[in-house]
Amino acid sequence: MSAPATIHGKEVFELLRDDLAAIEREFGRDTVSNVQAITEIGEYLRAGGGKRIRPALLLLSAKLFDYQGRGAVRLGAVVEIIHTATLVHDDIIDEARTRRGRPAANTQWGNSKCVLAGDWLYMQAFKVAVQERNFRILDTLIELTQQMVEGELLQMEKLGKLITLDEHFDLIYRKTACLFSVCMRMGAILGGATPEQEDALGRYGRDLGMAFQIVDDVLDLTASEGILGKPVASDLREGKVTMAVIHALERCTPQERGKIETILRDRGFNGVTHAQILDILQRYGSLEAATNHATQYAEAARRAICHFPDSENKRALLWAPDFVVAREK
Ligand code: IPE
Ligand code: IPE
Ligand code: MG
Ligand code: MG
Repeated sequence: MSAPATIHGKEVFELLRDDLAAIEREFGRDTVSNVQAITEIGEYLRAGGGKRIRPALLLLSAKLFDYQGRGAVRLGAVVEIIHTATLVHDDIIDEARTRRGRPAANTQWGNSKCVLAGDWLYMQAFKVAVQERNFRILDTLIELTQQMVEGELLQMEKLGKLITLDEHFDLIYRKTACLFSVCMRMGAILGGATPEQEDALGRYGRDLGMAFQIVDDVLDLTASEGILGKPVASDLREGKVTMAVIHALERCTPQERGKIETILRDRGFNGVTHAQILDILQRYGSLEAATNHATQYAEAARRAICHFPDSENKRALLWAPDFVVAREK
């Protein structure tokens, strides 16, 4: 078998352009309410953009089976609305001021309204999903939403604490990888995949999602707010220990450990600078180690779909892990 030609980001976008545009329209229609605050917040969130990686994955997964129905656009909007709702709640919990390069919704409307808007968005996502008349899809989405909420809660309980790598993996699975996996599985369900195929695509999504969150956590330490569009160095300030920090803590001196613990305890960079923390992480190769771990997950994702026949859609799925690891925002 000859090696399949590779595909680039621009071509992937071309491949999905019409469907992604349809998902934007669906999202816009789905977030209109008689209560103006909901419509306003919904529109603000939709217009803020975002990478739309979750609906893109769902589309590619369905297209792998040559699925032609309306369901992929509908469910593409559903996963993006669920993602949006989790971001609204996450920014309230994290007290984040910016998101996607603009004031976060909570800074514009305040926490109380945004909690309710997030709740409304969750239920609206389910209302749209019900239109599929498919209990497996509903089961999957309910299980997912509970996993994500549990993930945020577990994370809260562990704030400021030095968690193990296993605990960290469990958290990032619930927070992020589970939704990636569900996007792939829903595309597979729509496309009439066999259980083995659905399983393989679910594993692809999970491993890609793990890579995605590890990279998000590295970018939180290394990127600038201008590029990232959201606050940086916020995980430590919020008391969150992520992979590079766990790696460094296992190797550093008691003094260095003290510096990291001070930030986690005080929930702020009091007397310790971001640059000092980066120095420590660099000294032990911790950022690189985390990135290598993300690369391993990305490779595992690629391996998970190796049995599917070559197609443009498969090549797009093989490209996504590279994008996730190399991205700057
Ligand atoms: C942010 O997700 C939340 C995480 C899981 C890290 P994205 O980085 O996909 O956010 P947008 O939708 O592109 O803004
Ligand atoms: C992703 O974690 C949380 C969600 C699943 C909503 P983060 O807290 O790292 O997300 P960002 O960095 O604020 O986007
Ligand atoms: Mg956050
Ligand atoms: Mg983050």
